[in-house]
Amino acid sequence: MIVLVTATGTDAGKTTLTRGIARAARRRGIDVVGIKPFETGVAENAVDAAALERAAGAVWPGPWFRAPSPVAPWAATTMGEGAVDWDGIVHALRAAGERHELVLVEGAGGVRVPVDAEREVRDLAVALDARVLLVAPDVLGVLSYTLTAVDALRAVGVSPEVVLRAAPSPDPSAATNGALLEKKLGRRVHRFPYLDGADDALAGAVEDAGLLDVCLGVSR
Ligand SMILES: Nc1ncnc2c1ncn2[C@@H]1O[C@H](COP(=O)(O)OP(=O)(O)OP(=O)(O)O)[C@@H](O)[C@H]1O
Ligand SMILES: [Mg+2]
Repeated sequence: MIVLVTATGTDAGKTTLTRGIARAARRRGIDVVGIKPFETGVAENAVDAAALERAAGAVWPGPWFRAPSPVAPWAATTMGEGAVDWDGIVHALRAAGERHELVLVEGAGGVRVPVDAEREVRDLAVALDARVLLVAPDVLGVLSYTLTAVDALRAVGVSPEVVLRAAPSPDPSAATNGALLEKKLGRRVHRFPYLDGADDALAGAVEDAGLLDVCLGVSR
């Protein structure tokens, strides 16, 4: 099973949620790996990738893209910061999917971030035939951001599971965002709390929210 964790934008909480899912899976004895195929704004150490590896307790090799400038992967390549080996990345992720029970793939930024001149993050979901989680911070603006992102995914044939991630200081829109999104989308919207915590605390929140089962395709 390959799950792509994408979002309405950068800093939405992809890594945080994915760490929790990875650790929850590991605690259930599921053979899991967490991979960040495109990571920019990093020097020697890819921080998101390392966090996912720690949470899952596993590493998978690939021709992953890393670039120092904190910009979209395609932007980094146009600035001379390496090249994106799309086919190699897709191949390595598929290989991980054959070897591991659960492969968590964290996207870069939001769903339409350009990875190279032809592809965007959403195309990775299609190439991998992945289940998709769309993380959306529960703040003013989330209705439009989420509906726009869902439209962009549906346009390539992908129907995501939306995860509304709580804000540290909720604004007035938080009282209605979830219910209105459920009405607009015609489906359940999952909730994930804002919590300061290590991987195990995040894993507990993932289990409480039923999000590991969502990843595994088990409804409850
Ligand atoms: N559920 C959460 N509980 C507590 N803090 C969170 C949560 N989600 C996100 N954060 C905080 O918000 C910031 C951004 O989160 P995170 O790094 O997970 O986002 P991201 O979507 O992975 O960002 P990027 O696009 O850079 O990969 C971090 O400081 C993180 O600690
Ligand atoms: Mg991240």
